[in-house]
Amino acid sequence: MGDRGGAGDSWRKRTGSRPSGQGGGGPGAAVEDVRDAVAGPDVGARGEVPAQARDKDGDARVDSDPLELRCHRLQDSLFSSNSGFSNYRGILNWCVVMLILSNARLFLENLIKYGILVDPIQVVSLFLKDPYSWPAPCLVIVANVFVVAAFQVEKHLAVGTLTEQVGLLLHVANLVIILCFPAAVALLDKSITPVGSVLALIVYTILFLKLFSYRDVNLWCRQHRAKAKTASAGKKASEDSAQGIVRYPDNLTYRDLYYFIFAPTLCYELNFPRSPRIRKRFLLRRLLEILFFTQLQVGLIQQWMVPTIQNSMKPFRDMDYSRIIERLLKLAVPNHLIWLIFFYWFFHSCMNAVAELMQFGDREFYRDWWNSESVTYFWQNWNIPVHKWCLRHFYKPLVRRGNSKWMANTGVFLASAFFHEYVLSIPLRMFRLWAFTAMIAQVPLAWIVGRFFQGNYGNAAVWLTLIIGQPMAVLMYVHDYYVLNYEPSTAYA
Ligand SMILES: CC(C)(COP(=O)(O)OP(=O)(O)OC[C@H]1O[C@@H](n2cnc3c(N)ncnc32)[C@H](O)[C@@H]1OP(=O)(O)O)[C@@H](O)C(=O)NCCC(=O)NCCS
Repeated sequence: MGDRGGAGDSWRKRTGSRPSGQGGGGPGAAVEDVRDAVAGPDVGARGEVPAQARDKDGDARVDSDPLELRCHRLQDSLFSSNSGFSNYRGILNWCVVMLILSNARLFLENLIKYGILVDPIQVVSLFLKDPYSWPAPCLVIVANVFVVAAFQVEKHLAVGTLTEQVGLLLHVANLVIILCFPAAVALLDKSITPVGSVLALIVYTILFLKLFSYRDVNLWCRQHRAKAKTASAGKKASEDSAQGIVRYPDNLTYRDLYYFIFAPTLCYELNFPRSPRIRKRFLLRRLLEILFFTQLQVGLIQQWMVPTIQNSMKPFRDMDYSRIIERLLKLAVPNHLIWLIFFYWFFHSCMNAVAELMQFGDREFYRDWWNSESVTYFWQNWNIPVHKWCLRHFYKPLVRRGNSKWMANTGVFLASAFFHEYVLSIPLRMFRLWAFTAMIAQVPLAWIVGRFFQGNYGNAAVWLTLIIGQPMAVLMYVHDYYVLNYEPSTAYA
C-alpha cells in the first residue's frame, strides 16, 4: 500500500467514519474546498502533509521540514452540522445499554419490594368466574348466526329474490343486532368477567366490520354486473374460471365467507392474494413467539403494572396532584413496554401465524409507524387492517359523496372513538368516555403536532403522546372502576 493511501486512511480515522457517497457534495465537501484554499503549496490537496514527509503510520516525520510538521488542518468538530458526520450507532447502543441497566434496576427494586407476584391461576380467573359457566366462548359461538344471516341475505340479493332496499334493511338490522346483542349479554349476565366480555365484544366488533365490508363488496359487484354487457361477460367468465379467478356470484359460498371471517383482514375481496405454501419453520417461529410474548405480557402486567396501579389509588383519593403525576410517570414505563410487546405479539406474531396457516398472501399488517413525524402518519401506519377498512368503507365513500376531507376524517375518528368506548365501557359497566375522548382528541392533536412540530420534534411529540396518553387512560379507568366497585360510599355518578 502506498504512502498516500495510508495518509488518506489516517485522515479518515481522525474525522470518524463519513457516510458513503458523500465524496463530492454536501457540507463535508464545502469544508474540504475551504481547506484546499487555505493550505499552502507544501500541503497536500486535502490539507495533508506530503506523502514522502510521513512515517510508515502516515504521521509527519520529526526530521522533516518544520512546515511539514503540521498536525492541524481546517476541519469541523463532529457535532457541528457542517461536519456532515451522521454515524451515531455507538450512541444508540449506549441508549440501549442504559435502558437495559435502568430497567434491570427497576426490575430488582420491584422484586425486592413485592416478591414474585406472577400467578398463572389468577389469569384463569380473569376469564372465568364459574367453571361451569362459559358465557364469553358461548357468545363467540353464537356469532355464527349473524354470519349465516348475512350470507343468506346476499344469496337472495344475487338471484333477485330480495330487492336492494329490503336487502339493505336486513343487513342494517343484522349489523345493529351484532353490536347490541353481546352488549346486552355483557351488561345483564353476572357470570361474565370483564376480560371475557372485552374479548367477546372485540370479536363482535371485528365481525361487524367484516360483514359491513362483505355487504359493500357484493353490492359493488352487483352494480358492476348490472353495467357490464351480458355477451362479453359470458366470454370473460369462462376465461376467468380457466385462470382460477372467482367472479360474482360464484363467490357466494360458505367456504369463501368463512375463509374471509378467519383471514387476518377486515376488507373482503373475491380473490385474495394467496401464498404458495405453508412455511413450517416460519409458522413454528411465530407460534413460539406467541407463547413467549403471551407469558411475558402476563408476567409484566402482574409483577409490574398491577402494584404500580394499586399504589396510585391513594394519591387519586387524596387528590395529591404531584403524587398523581409521579405515579403516572412510573406507570408509563411498564405500560409502554407492554404496549410495544403487544404490538409485536399481535401484529407480527399472531397475524402472520394466522396468515401463514390460511396461506393469506398480504402480510402488510403494519408499516413503520415508529418513524411517525405526525399523528396523521401514525394512524395511517400502525394498524393497517383497520386503516384499510376505514379508508375503503368509510373515508373514501364519504369524500366521494361530497363531504370535505376534514368531515370524513372526523367521522372516521368518531366511529373509532365509539368502538373503543364500546369494548371498554360495557365490560366495565361504567360509562366515563375516557377512551372516546382520547380517540376524538386525535383530530386536534394531529393538527397541533402537524402545525408546531416537524421532523425529529414531531417524532418525539408522537412518542410522548403514546407514552403518556395511554397510562393516563389506564389510570382513569382503573380509578373509576375501583371507586365504583370497591368504595361505594365515595362513588360519584
Ligand atoms: C381517517 C383516515 C382514514 C384518514 O386517512 P389519510 O390517509 O390521512 O387520508 P388522506 O386524505 O391522505 O387520503 C387517503 C386516501 O383517500 C384518497 N382520497 C382523497 N381524496 C379523495 C377524493 N376526493 N376522492 C376519492 N379518494 C380520495 C387518497 O387518494 C388516498 O388514497 P390512497 O390511500 O389509495 O392513496 C386515517 O387517519 C385513519 O385510518 N384513522 C383511523 C385510525 C383508527 O382509528 N385506527 C384504530 C386503530 S386501533
